Amino acid sequence: MLKLWCLPLVLCGSWCAVSAVPMQLSHFMTLSFGAARGFARWGLNSTHVEIELTFPTTGWMAFGLSPDGGMDDSDVLFGYVDDTSREAVIQDRYLEQDPATYRVNFQLDDQQDWKLVYGMQNNTHTIMRAARKLQTCDKQDHPFTRDGQNVIFALHPRDPAGKTGPIIKHSARGNSIIDFGEALPAINAAKFHC
Ligand code: HEM
Ligand SMILES: *[C@@H]1O[C@H](CO)[C@@H](O)[C@H](O)[C@H]1NC(C)=O
Ligand SMILES: *[C@@H]1O[C@H](CO)[C@@H](O)[C@H](O)[C@H]1NC(C)=O
Repeated sequence: MLKLWCLPLVLCGSWCAVSAVPMQLSHFMTLSFGAARGFARWGLNSTHVEIELTFPTTGWMAFGLSPDGGMDDSDVLFGYVDDTSREAVIQDRYLEQDPATYRVNFQLDDQQDWKLVYGMQNNTHTIMRAARKLQTCDKQDHPFTRDGQNVIFALHPRDPAGKTGPIIKHSARGNSIIDFGEALPAINAAKFHC
């Protein structure tokens, strides 16, 4: 009996340590906020995406999947590290901009799909890592796609007043086009919302 118990431990050795290692973030993209730079690193497995954002701010940061590079109808990962408590806050949000009035609505999704992996800040930068299912079955989310996915990103030097308080407009923002990678399983956008 003792031998049977020991065997898996012996075989395990370094292998078990390997399986506990976080997902490899093998993709990398520079995010340009005018003169300032941020970074996104991400990885995929068959069910999830993990993304790590490094932004030049100690306030809030946001990274969104956008239909066309604009704000309207974007699915946004929003977060900050509280300057006082050092708590890392990650939120799943949805951005709308009225095409006539340009009024912006930046709401929490009813279903929160991003899970915090870690978040920290130093005097100049915030790093946040979060995981999400590729298929969330949430009508307020967009799929990660292979070809020409428009992304938007923004930051502000200060934390929001609270987790549900109003968010002050960005001091810097940008957009880009990303290929999230061939490892992405073929998720038909039409079927994304389940
Ligand atoms: C409180 C919420 C927000 C407000 C009030 C707001 C407001 C605005 C306004 C007035 C503009 C017009 C141009 C400018 O003044 O810079 C703009 C542009 C832009 N914003 Fe926001 N924004 C908000 C949140 C966000 C977030 C969370 C993101 C990214 C995830 C974002 C990304 C952008 C981008 C990429 C543009 C340029 C759009 C284009 O070129 O068509 N915004 N925003
Ligand atoms: C895929 O990644 C997610 C998020 O990190 C993790 O929870 C899940 O266990 C991973 N699945 C596999 C098969 O590795
Ligand atoms: C703060 O973090 C950023 C991003 O990781 C890094 O580039 C920078 O060197 C750090 N600053 C200090 C003072 O450690």
